[in-house]
Amino acid sequence: MADIFEKLLKDQGPLGQHRERAHGYFAFPKLDGPIGNRMNFRGKEMIVWSLNNYLGLANHPEVRKIDGEASVQYGLALPMGARMMSGNSNFHEQLERELAEFEHKEDCILMNYGYQGIMSAIDAICSRHDVIVYDAESHACIIDGMRLHTGHRYVYKHNDIADLEKQLQRATSLIEKQNSGGILLITEGVFGMAGDQGKLKEIGALKSKYQFRLLVDDAHGFGTLGKTGAGAGEEQGCQDDIDLYFSTFAKSMASIGAFMAGPKPIIDFIRYNIRSQIFAKSVPMPLVLGNLKRLELLKTRPELKEKLWSNALKLQNGLKERGFDIGNTDSVVTPVYMKGGVEEATAMVMDLRENYGIFCSIVVYPVIPKGHIIYRLIPTASHTDEDIEVTLNAFSETKEKLDAGVYKVAEIPAMADVV
Ligand SMILES: Cc1ncc(COP(=O)(O)O)c(C=O)c1O
Repeated sequence: MADIFEKLLKDQGPLGQHRERAHGYFAFPKLDGPIGNRMNFRGKEMIVWSLNNYLGLANHPEVRKIDGEASVQYGLALPMGARMMSGNSNFHEQLERELAEFEHKEDCILMNYGYQGIMSAIDAICSRHDVIVYDAESHACIIDGMRLHTGHRYVYKHNDIADLEKQLQRATSLIEKQNSGGILLITEGVFGMAGDQGKLKEIGALKSKYQFRLLVDDAHGFGTLGKTGAGAGEEQGCQDDIDLYFSTFAKSMASIGAFMAGPKPIIDFIRYNIRSQIFAKSVPMPLVLGNLKRLELLKTRPELKEKLWSNALKLQNGLKERGFDIGNTDSVVTPVYMKGGVEEATAMVMDLRENYGIFCSIVVYPVIPKGHIIYRLIPTASHTDEDIEVTLNAFSETKEKLDAGVYKVAEIPAMADVV
């Protein structure tokens, strides 16, 4: 019999195999200093395009004040235990009420993390005879939620309504054959990699033909889309078609935690049956108070969303004018598609960091097909015109070098932290 650790030592996984050259630089980099448009990386100031601090709330003085004061007043331990047992408070319930009202839903449940929250909600909602129909580009937390599902699941091609209909037909006939079960359709409000919105309006319209309930993960739409910032449903004018609206606090709110909003009896069911919350510690008080303040700012300071969009459009239009391919984004998420190998991509990222002071994330094989590179730029309300100009120039120059083969290197540059 093998030692179970043996295989882990032989194969560190698709990304882990590069760790000896990449750790601390291409993977697990450490950004220092206050969160903002410019931060320090290995002692050098960089323009940072990697943080989902969309509204610039992470370092907003009112946010910092309440985060600090609430920590002093309550400490990080309170409330102890899970919500159901001993970890509830009036502030937790106030935040739930305010989020439900903001999303035009009857009720809402707080979750201590988005990833485990949505996974576990899917598990709570779906039983063996239910069928999940989901978008092929769904976030890992949705895929993992599905792994907990013991029944059938049908994937549809990303944002392809014709294929979605096919899968709904398959799901419907399976349920008719079983004579029990229902359909949960899961998609995202904004797909975080490509920045395109889920086709919520078209999906909602299918409710007249098929019977299903719609769960939307709007991690990137919450606070960035819609007239009031209520997200992709508000933006597309179909909030009522969303039966369960989910978002994390990790992006626009620049915090920790998440929520799911929907009809009162359904949220109550989830509240009493969601294992990841029933058997885990409640969100700490400073985070709850901090999230109440963030939500207040999100609702009352529309200028933050306006600035975010003004920056996003300047960046996106600037890239397009310079001939870059930014795909189909209709959110602030800004992908830049290029062609090249993994080694080339890392050499280019290194040049951007070391010689242009630009810090952005890249996505390469095996996350996307071989030979493709996606730069993922996340504009925020705290970026400046100068940040955008410097970045556009840097992209133009480095793209020329990429096309000229300057970055063709034999292997990923050795940039790992010396420990
Ligand atoms: C679409 C989406 N859903 C869920 C999550 C997970 O949220 P959390 O960071 O709160 O676990 C993320 C990432 O943060 C995300 O991008």
